[in-house]
Amino acid sequence: MTDPRKILITGASGLIAGFAIKALKESCELTLVDLDDTAFVDCIALDLRIDSQTLDDLCSTHDMIIHLAFSKDHTDDIKMAENVYRAAMKADSKPSVIMASSIHAVGGYWDWQKEPYRSILNKQASAETLKNALIGIDRPLYPNSVYGASKGYLELLGKHYADQGLQVVVVRYGGVTHELDFFEKEPGFHSIWFSHGDTIHFFQCLVKAEITQQYSVIFATSKNRFGIHDLGPAEQLLNYTASDDGSEQDYKNEL
Ligand SMILES: NC(=O)c1ccc[n+]([C@@H]2O[C@H](COP(=O)([O-])OP(=O)(O)OC[C@H]3O[C@@H](n4cnc5c(N)ncnc54)[C@H](O)[C@@H]3O)[C@@H](O)[C@H]2O)c1
Repeated sequence: MTDPRKILITGASGLIAGFAIKALKESCELTLVDLDDTAFVDCIALDLRIDSQTLDDLCSTHDMIIHLAFSKDHTDDIKMAENVYRAAMKADSKPSVIMASSIHAVGGYWDWQKEPYRSILNKQASAETLKNALIGIDRPLYPNSVYGASKGYLELLGKHYADQGLQVVVVRYGGVTHELDFFEKEPGFHSIWFSHGDTIHFFQCLVKAEITQQYSVIFATSKNRFGIHDLGPAEQLLNYTASDDGSEQDYKNEL
C-alpha cells in the first residue's frame, strides 16, 4: 500500500461522494471524476458508461476505487459498474473496488405494514423483536425493486471479479439525505438512516482498514435504535462504529 493512498472517487459531484471527499481529502490523494467538471476544480470529466482508455489509465494509478457514480437509468448504472470492474481488473496494480449497493438489494425482507417491522416502524419493538428482525449479510439477495435487483447484479458481478483476483467490498448504503423531512416522508427512515457524520466516519474507517478478504458485503447505516440491518460485518471489516440514531429525529407514522 502506498502512503498516502491514491483513491479514485466516481460520481464525485454526488451526495455520498461529497462526504467521502470530506472524509479523505486530508489523508489521501484523491482523483475525482464525474460527468462534468463544474462542481470541483480537480474533477475530471468522464462518462463512465464508456469503457475508455482514460478509465483504464486512472485505475492503473490508484489503490482504491470508490464507485459512487449513479444514474436512475438502471442500464446506465450497470454499464458504469461493469466498466469500473473491468478497468480495475485490467490494471496491473489491481485497485480494490468499493462498489455502491443498497439496502434495497435485500429490501424484500421487510414490510413496514407487517410484523415485526410494523412495531419497528412505530418505535415499539422490544429488544427481542429487534434481534429477530435483524437482516444479516448471510441472507440471499431479495430485492424489492428493479433498482434493488440491479444492485444485486452488481454484487454478484463483484463476486465474479473477486474470484478472478480483484478485491471487492460491496457497501449496501442506508438512507443518506440532505432533506430532514425524509423522516416524515419515508416510512421507516429512522431505521435505515445513514447520518452525514457517520457517513464521513465510515469512509475514514474504510481507508484505514487492512482488508484481507477478497470479497465482502457490508451494510452501512447509522446506529439506529430501531435499525434492521446488521452493522456487525462493517464493524469487523472496517472497525466502523456508528454513533447517530434515527429514532431521535422527528418522525410521524402515516401508515
Ligand atoms: N443516497 C442514498 O441514500 C443511497 C442509499 C443507498 C445506496 N446509494 C447508492 O450510492 C451511490 C451514490 O448515491 P448518491 O445518492 O450519492 O448519488 P447521486 O445521484 O447524488 O450522485 C451520483 C453522481 O454520479 C454522476 N454520474 C451519473 N452518470 C454518470 C456517468 N455516466 N459518468 C460519470 N458520472 C456519472 C452524477 O453526475 C452524480 O454526480 C449510488 O450507487 C446509489 O444507488 C445511495
